[in-house]
Amino acid sequence: MVEVLEASGEALDRAALIIRRGGLVAFPTETVYGLGASVFNQEAVAKIFEVKKRPRFDPIIVHVSNPEQVEHLCSEVSKTAEKLIEKFWPGPLTLVLPKSDSVPYIVTAGLGTVAIRMPSHPIALELIRRSGTPIAAPSANLFGFLSPTTPQHVVEQLGEEIDLVIDGGRTPIGVESTVLDLSSKRPTLLRPGGLPLEEIEKVLGQKIGVSTISKKPSSPGQLPKHYSPRTPLKILRNHKKVETKGRIGLLAFKKPKHQIHFEVVEVLSSSGNLREAAYNLFSSLHKLDKAGLDLIYAEPIPETGLGRAIMDRLRKAEGIENPTNR
Ligand code: TXA
Ligand code: MG
Repeated sequence: MVEVLEASGEALDRAALIIRRGGLVAFPTETVYGLGASVFNQEAVAKIFEVKKRPRFDPIIVHVSNPEQVEHLCSEVSKTAEKLIEKFWPGPLTLVLPKSDSVPYIVTAGLGTVAIRMPSHPIALELIRRSGTPIAAPSANLFGFLSPTTPQHVVEQLGEEIDLVIDGGRTPIGVESTVLDLSSKRPTLLRPGGLPLEEIEKVLGQKIGVSTISKKPSSPGQLPKHYSPRTPLKILRNHKKVETKGRIGLLAFKKPKHQIHFEVVEVLSSSGNLREAAYNLFSSLHKLDKAGLDLIYAEPIPETGLGRAIMDRLRKAEGIENPTNR
């Protein structure tokens, strides 16, 4: 089994050494756990794809500990990018920018752009600093399945194949970063996430185009089926048409008011708080997925703020094409 070390100076030194020597380390960020390798070590990055069973067309986010590292990774940093970096880094915002020659194509899956973010989690920042290199890291789960918000989730999915897991407890935001493409004229949202779109629009003073579902994606989080439990999941659009055969579970948004019986119920936030719901989303889905159910119903979430990211993940878990209308 993989070694799991509680975060400490010593553990971070061990982890940094593993990264420098071409190994893979899972570590907490404020969004979800990442599976990290040195961005400049192509073999190590190739191993990330193997371990996650991730298709080679899916590019990986590069994590930095300092905004100045962006200059070395990008050929051009626009005024818009500078503004967003100034306002939202460190934090759950990933920016897609034109790549420089120093970024290997295996990281960007052959694209001429690179996705970069500076996480705000102190353990992630310290790991990047001690490694002395930006860290390429997708979420530390098998491709297409639920993202990990605890070290246990990482061990369950990838345990045999990675070198070390740094345990920093549960991740505070619980959904992945917002991915914003700034490589063409108009900023485009590729994945709603931990930073609400409204906040970005406020700073830029403009509406942002949305492109979050695509069969030939530039960002495979855009694939119609993704972020899925192994148990089939349906969004509960009409409480009167509930399937009753078999073992059925419910992912409720608030404390349920209806009287329908479900085998297992997970409540995202009894008071209907979107932040709390995002925090609980993946751990509730992991629990429901382990409960031996035939079907999981998920109640719809209001699509403002973090609700947009939650609904995006639920639609993709459902696997039905249903473009996110803003
Ligand atoms: O919160 C997060 O972003 C977490 C933590 C670990 O930082 N990472 C994460 O990585 O969610 P991953 O690989 O699971 O999702 C990254 C998304 C994918 O949908 C990928 O296709 C997209 O970002 N992406 C990466 N590079 C891109 C690029 N050059 N152009 C467009 N999309 C890109
Ligand atoms: Mg992922």
